[in-house]
Order: sequence, then structure tokens, then C-alpha cells
Amino acid sequence: MVPKISTLSGYIFEYQKSTANPTEFWSNIADTFYWRRKYDEVLKWDFQKPEVRWFEGGQLNLTENIFERQIFYRGGQTALLWEPNDPEEEPRRITYQELFEEVQKFANVLLDLGVKKGDRVGIYLPMVPELVVAMLACARIGAVHSVVFGGFSAQALSERLEDAGIRLLITADGGFRGTKTVPLKAIADEALEQAPTVEQVIVYQRTKEDIPMKEGRDVWWHDLMAGAAASNEAATMESEDPLYILYTSGSTGKPKGLVHSTAGYMIYSAYTFRNVFQYSDGDVYFCTADIGWVTGHSYLVYGPLLSGATCVMFEGVPTWPDAGRFWDIVEKYRVNQFYTAPTALRSLMAMGEKWLEGKDLSSLKVLGSVGEPINEEAWHWYHDHVGKNRCPIVDTWWQTETGGIMISPLAGIIPTKPSYATMPFMGVQPVIVDSEGQEQTGNSVQGNLCISYPWPGMARTIWGDHERFRQTYFSTYPGMYFTGDGARRDEDGYYRIMGRVDDVINVSGHRLGTAEVENAINEHPLVNESAVVGFPHDIKGQGIFAFVVCTELSDGGEDGIRTSIRKTVSKIIGPFAKPDLILLVSGLPKTRSGKIMRRILRKVAAGETEDFGDTSTLLDPAIVDEIVEAATRTAGG
Ligand code: WTA
Repeated sequence: MVPKISTLSGYIFEYQKSTANPTEFWSNIADTFYWRRKYDEVLKWDFQKPEVRWFEGGQLNLTENIFERQIFYRGGQTALLWEPNDPEEEPRRITYQELFEEVQKFANVLLDLGVKKGDRVGIYLPMVPELVVAMLACARIGAVHSVVFGGFSAQALSERLEDAGIRLLITADGGFRGTKTVPLKAIADEALEQAPTVEQVIVYQRTKEDIPMKEGRDVWWHDLMAGAAASNEAATMESEDPLYILYTSGSTGKPKGLVHSTAGYMIYSAYTFRNVFQYSDGDVYFCTADIGWVTGHSYLVYGPLLSGATCVMFEGVPTWPDAGRFWDIVEKYRVNQFYTAPTALRSLMAMGEKWLEGKDLSSLKVLGSVGEPINEEAWHWYHDHVGKNRCPIVDTWWQTETGGIMISPLAGIIPTKPSYATMPFMGVQPVIVDSEGQEQTGNSVQGNLCISYPWPGMARTIWGDHERFRQTYFSTYPGMYFTGDGARRDEDGYYRIMGRVDDVINVSGHRLGTAEVENAINEHPLVNESAVVGFPHDIKGQGIFAFVVCTELSDGGEDGIRTSIRKTVSKIIGPFAKPDLILLVSGLPKTRSGKIMRRILRKVAAGETEDFGDTSTLLDPAIVDEIVEAATRTAGG
């Protein structure tokens, strides 16, 4: 088991060790895992290329570290407590032994279907235990999984399947979310029309709706599992073999498939999990994130299971049947650590405290937050009403690219401060730079956040495009990883994350590239061009504001076109990417070289009507007045 730091002086001591001698530090952590062959070299790196290799020469299988390593004493312990969408439906309790059996069987299913080491397997499933089984079965045989969030549309799904060269897709008939059913199979069928690499589809039966099965391509999960052999010998993997690909948005339209390694990711996700949440044996841990995003990967599946944790997995939504659902779950399973996103907290906060009344939350010890900056009001609400002033809040800053938590309090050990992610995790060396790349030393400084030294959990490349990986993260400030976030280090040396400084927005904790939304809007036949920016939104953190130039209006006038633009975005990306506000304008503020001056649009979107700074380089400065006038006229449109 990875070591657990339990005092502030312990943290200071370990942190110093981890930066003074990272190789020795990480090799001590690595030695708590089970290796088939010990590594020869702890770290080899060069951020110019960039190349980062951890534990080279080592051989292992990640699932052996979950199962074989722990099964002797954890076989009967609950691994997953699955809470269905509908509270009337039976929950499922799955022990480590049972999960192990399912994973071995499904690993055999994949092998029987001809899936080989290194093949990519797509997963488009609802939040059911089989999703965890599918991921771990891939890891067991050395296939690289790529989970696509169930909220993505057919087009977004097919784009990802094609980019990753997926041959086999695992999906379900559908999924339940609150009062809605998501027709996953129908969406997948549509996606597959444009993703010719996919030859086989495994369909898990969840909603039991009548769905068409394509002869020769689609097979039922339960049919395959019924005939699967029970035991499976794990494949031997090299430390740097890819474990998974996960797509995320960047500042260009095309999503990036971040590739995570086997050994480094395993060690980092487990070590951060145990220390940040201060998980102890027997605790019940509940992470509300969807596995379609990185938080679900690292802190619902890998980190906790590698640490022998008992995890609550929830299929539904926080507001159904009512806004007390999370608290019912906490009470029902006696949850000790609860990890969620600020957007969920803000939406529950808006519904009032009455949903917490009468709920027994006395089991809670640690509260976590992730995905976006948590504003002070939400922080205090969480602290007072959920944690009853007894539970430390771990505001965990990290990214899909970082694989695991980078800056965060260790629960109960590093003193917290509302809206501060506080201190770097072991081995993490944050640097704040100004726009010229000058490092800002000392305290009370602000700028762009970089990381100057590798950590085991970091992504190694972008699938199929290493040059893009270099350009996006390692070229802005040579020799450092650039996060894309702004940060402040205050007088106490505490870090506060200020939000993205690039063209990425964070909507309800979902990361979206403005270019991605623009591309989708531009697909609308009546749209000439568009520009998308984020704006402060009470519940979502950031909302999507689209400035759109149309060639003509459709029949329904301005409202009609807004509705149909939203539909287009929903179809191309997914419903969560629909613009909150659409302003129809006759032109965009562009410089003579044709670049859109987003700074102006961001101000307009934030409700400002003056002080736009120097607009003299604009091709047509008058357009700014027109946009402001339109914004004021249609405020709320
Ligand atoms: C933002 C989610 C402030 C940040 C794990 C980052 C945060 C992006 C925090 C990554 C936090 C995440 N405080 N901002 N505690 N956590 N972010 O890839 O802008 O979906 O760059 O990973 O979310 O989002 P991603």
C-alpha cells in the first residue's frame, strides 16, 4: 500500500524529499506496487522534445495491483456500491472478488473477439458497474481504452472513434439520467456510419428498450459473458505502454486524445487518492463524477481501486427525484469522503437548504471539489451545510493532461482557505510566469501556471500527434509544461487558480474549446461566421456566449434561428455545449489581419458597455458600438 502522510510536518518533509531527489522519492513509492520485472531507470526526460519516461524496463499489469495483490485480504470487501438512477431499483454491491471475476471473464471475451495488446477499444456506456469492468478488462489484456462521455452526440463520438482507430466499441441499449433515457445505441449506430474502423459492437442491456442489433457486428454483453471462461492471466505490460486515451478540448476545434501510461499513471493516481482524501481502510468514498471525464478515471476507478477502497458509483443526477439525492446516498451508505464539482454545489445551493434537512450526514469526514474554481459562496455553503463545519474541503486542481491531482490540500493536514487549491502535491513543482515567460519568484505573485518538472501521472502525448502535444504544452514557455491556467501565489505561498487563460471554457465542469463550439455553430446553413466566449454564470461557472453573423434569418426570425443554432450544436457536440446566449450581429470585431479581438467580446459578454481599450487596430471600430448596442437591446436573449 502506498504510504500515507499524516501530519503537516510530514507533508513538508516528504515534499522537500520529492523535489530534492525525485528519483529516489518515486522509486520508494513505486516499490509498494507489484512488478513482474523491476524497472531499470526511474525517470528519463526532456521537456524540449518532449519525452518523459517513468520506470523504464519495468513490467507489470495494473489490474494485478488491484486484484491479485489485494484479493487475499480484500476478496470479500465491497469494491463498488452501485446506486441506480431510480431509488426504487435494487442497488448493487460488488465485492473485490466478484469484480475480479467479471473483469477476468470480460477480458476473455475481448480476447476471444480477437482484441490484442495495443488495440484501441471504445467505451460509450452509462454509469453502470460494467463500465468499470470494461475498462479494467482492457487494462488486463493490454488494450487501450477510450471512454467517451455519454453526453456526446453521434458526430462527436464518431470523430473520437475514428481518431483513435477504434475497432471494437462497447455500448449499451441506453442509459437512465433522471427522468430521461439516453438512447446510446441509436447514437452509436449513427456514429458508426461515419466510423468505418469499428467492426464489432458489444451491447450491454440496461434500459431493455427494443433496439436493432446489426447482424455480424453487434453482440449482447450477457450472451458473451455467459460463455466466457472464468480465469484470465494478466498480460505483461511495459511501464510506458499506454493505458488509455481520453479526449479533451483545446483551443483549436479538434479534440485531443491525451495518452496516459501504465506504471506512472497507476502510481500517481493511487498515491494522490490515498493522501489527498486521507482514505483509511473501511471508509466509504463517493465520487460523483462521470467516468466519461478524467475525474471518473482517476478517482472513481483507478486511484480508489488500487487503494482497496469501497466506492459509491451513482448512475443518476443530483436533482432527481429531488435535490436531496446526494445527501440520501451519503446517509444510506454512510459515506466518509465525498468528491464533487462546484457546479453541482451551486445548483443545489440555489435550491435551498431544505433538501439537507433531516439527512444524517454525520459519517462525512472529507469533502472534495474539482473541475473549476470554487467560488467563496459555494465553498462556505459546502463547508457549513454539508460538512457542518467539521470536514476539511480539498479543493483539488488538476487536468486531464496531469492524470491526477497536482495542487490540493491533504485533507485535515494542510490548512484550507476558501477558493484556494493551496499547496503542491509531492513531486509537483509549480512555477508562475509572466507573459514573457519570466518566472515570478517569491510570494504575492500572479501569472500563468507552469510545471517545471515531470511527475509520473502526466500524459505522454496526444494520440497520433506528438507535435501538437509539444506545441500545445511545451512551446509557450520552453522547458516547462504550460497548464493553460492562470494562478496566484499569495502571501502565504498558497495557490489560487484563476481560470483558463486560453480559449478554453469550463461550463458546468465540462471543458470546451471555444473553437469547437464555433465550428459547430458554423455548420448551420444560415451562419456566416461566429465567435464564442465564456461569461460568468451563477450555476455553471461559465456560460457560453455566441456572437453570430447570419446570412439571412429563417422563418422563425431571430428566435427561430437561435433555436436552430442550439440544435445544430447539440447535434455536433452534445446538448451540454449549447450556447446560453446567442447575439446576432452584422459583423465581428476583427483586426486588419482578420483576427477576432476576443478581449472585446469577453467584456461585452460580461455585461460591460465601455472601456474596451485600444480598438484602433480594428478594421471597423464602429462594429463595437453596434455589438454593445445589440447586447444591451437583447440582454437576456
Ligand atoms: C479547471 C478536470 C480551479 C482548470 C480534473 C483546469 C480547476 C481544467 C480546478 C481541467 C480547481 C480543475 N480549481 N480550476 N480545483 N480543477 N480546474 O481537463 O481550468 O476536465 O485547467 O480536468 O479545469 O479540466 P479537465
